[in-house]
Amino acid sequence: MADLTTKYLGLSMSNPLIVGSSGLTDSVDNILELEKAGAGAVVLKSLFEEQIMLEVDASLKEAYKNDMIYSAKSETLDYIDVHIRERTMGAYIELIKEAKDKAMIPIIASINCVSSAEWTNFANQFEEAGADALELNIAILPTDENTDAKDIEDTYVDIVKKIKQKINIPVAVKISPYFTNLSRMVKKIGDAGADGIVMFNRFYTPDYDINNFSEKSSDTFSKSSESGNVRRWMGIISPKVDCDLSATTGVHSSEDLIKNLLAGAVTAQLVSAIYKNGKEQIQKILGGLNEWMDEKGYNTIEQFRGKLSQAETSNPSAYQRIQFMKYFSEIR
Ligand SMILES: Cc1cc2nc3c(=O)[nH]c(=O)nc-3n(C[C@H](O)[C@H](O)[C@H](O)COP(=O)(O)O)c2cc1C
Repeated sequence: MADLTTKYLGLSMSNPLIVGSSGLTDSVDNILELEKAGAGAVVLKSLFEEQIMLEVDASLKEAYKNDMIYSAKSETLDYIDVHIRERTMGAYIELIKEAKDKAMIPIIASINCVSSAEWTNFANQFEEAGADALELNIAILPTDENTDAKDIEDTYVDIVKKIKQKINIPVAVKISPYFTNLSRMVKKIGDAGADGIVMFNRFYTPDYDINNFSEKSSDTFSKSSESGNVRRWMGIISPKVDCDLSATTGVHSSEDLIKNLLAGAVTAQLVSAIYKNGKEQIQKILGGLNEWMDEKGYNTIEQFRGKLSQAETSNPSAYQRIQFMKYFSEIR
């Protein structure tokens, strides 16, 4: 049996698989089951920055209740449902405390935010409740044609700097791939003090019902084929940054996990695979990783992590190729 132990954000984990932020991680019972199923850590379901402010501002509470608080921006972005609307910061803090009390694996709290506003003053409460780390899901959809890209990028950096001033636990930042120069952006977030980057957020995407002329949601769950873009950027970015990279989106099998590790990921997060196949998928994936490592003669993940990243691979130009000239010309 290979040694799968992993250090992510300075936290000791028995293996590199994290159950990602979702409804799977919103109760202590679920978390304990995930731990039993073999998860190396969990990221709790996100609390929204607006929810933190609700706790301190009664007028905000009123606006929130009347549905006035969500800008089109945040509304299009996320998974806001009745369930999450009902959760308060107090309940979230209790969740962290109880999870820390009962589970042995690292518990990573998660906040979904779009600004570095006043909510950051309350971040220390997550630390005090015992969270081992904080994952910031920063999701700004730039729909305003009058806002400069630099201003939006600065918001990410500001949030990280502010939070790092307020808390001592490690901070990971979950981002999307939609930046003009993603490598630069990741470097800026790292320079601002982030201990980890989670790549990539998977957004709600509107689809159409062409018979009823209405809008509907596209697939809630990812497919393994979506992991290619994560792999590309993991491979390009991992040799360039000091912080830990965690892969999310499209990790469904041991092969997906191994590929991300080969690209340089420190951990990988699972959500859709568990919704689709149950918690047993964790053991299946870890079993596959173990078998593959035994077959290749690896005792630890460090022995092969990043082996196919752009800096290590024998074919670095594969990462630069975005047009399919060679392949297209060969297809008849
Ligand atoms: C039902 C559901 C709820 C989710 N809730 C959150 C959330 O609260 N915060 C967050 O950062 N990501 C959330 N996500 C995104 C996941 O954490 C993950 O990044 C995304 O699903 C891609 O990973 P996957 O391919 O393993 O599903 C959610 C995803 C799903 C399917």
